[in-house]
Amino acid sequence: MNRVFVARAIPRPGIEAMARRAEVVVSPHERDLAPEELVKSVAGCKVLVSTPANRIDAPLLDGRPEIRLVANYSVGVDHVDLDAARERGVLVTNTPGVLTATTANMALALILAVTRRLVEGDRLVRSGGFKGVAPLFMLGSDLEGKTLGVFGLGRIGRALANRAKVLGMEIIYNNTVHLPEVEKELAAHYVSFDDLLSRADVLSVNAPLTDQTRGIFNYRAFRRMKPGAFFINTGRGPIHVEEDLVRALKEGVIAGAGLDVYEHEPVAHSGLVTMENVVLSPHLGSATLEVRTKMALQVAGNVVAFLEGREPPDRIA
Ligand code: DGY
Repeated sequence: MNRVFVARAIPRPGIEAMARRAEVVVSPHERDLAPEELVKSVAGCKVLVSTPANRIDAPLLDGRPEIRLVANYSVGVDHVDLDAARERGVLVTNTPGVLTATTANMALALILAVTRRLVEGDRLVRSGGFKGVAPLFMLGSDLEGKTLGVFGLGRIGRALANRAKVLGMEIIYNNTVHLPEVEKELAAHYVSFDDLLSRADVLSVNAPLTDQTRGIFNYRAFRRMKPGAFFINTGRGPIHVEEDLVRALKEGVIAGAGLDVYEHEPVAHSGLVTMENVVLSPHLGSATLEVRTKMALQVAGNVVAFLEGREPPDRIA
């Protein structure tokens, strides 16, 4: 019987669906496996179900040539060397679609939380610092009539833009390609990267991590943003330079930030954790029971298709 190794426990329905076609071994550890543990654990397995915490690279694939499919439990695949997989004839799949709305909701939650000072207010109430409402007490920023700049207008970026439109925001975006259909639907305008920086009141990163996007939000970029602007990242941490973001926030170059991802994840820059105008969440973009269960079933769908000799529906390499 074919063997499948699951590098980190996923919701049960996904395991059960795969177990009807293969022997499924789930890592017993409640932590991510180190590369040397992963290479040992996956011995004899045709399929590896991985997460963004696993580095899938040439040394792993050469060490375990029996792996023929890497089925990612994530939509982001920056942790996978796709060229190395292609060169070795290893198939790679991901989980697009099912997490779009939920991740867009997380971006919106961060936008609302940071612009309305929600977490700062929560801390104040808990610490006994709330002494009564007053006309000038803890004023935030409204979104209506403001401009949302979306960096990366893929599925999640579009879902966020849709939500922001309902709140009365204007939408501008920067993307690898112009999207005329989407522009019509959202009344969104394509702008250069520099214009995105200088025009957005809220700038949301919804792009994948690539050689082109890595470190693109550096001090120079933050310096071009409006002093009252907010920076939101629910994409991947290394798209921003955290040291530069901390400097920009300290100097008041921008007004605040909402982050779900970190440059050196899982560690957030020490400068961020003491700032009141920053909302931090621990990579929860797709973390709802419903979506994580759908992702598990989507992974299983890809694995079962592969094991039955069919094309996995979400093949990306
Ligand atoms: C994804 O699917 O890429 C999310 O970031 C969860 O890791």
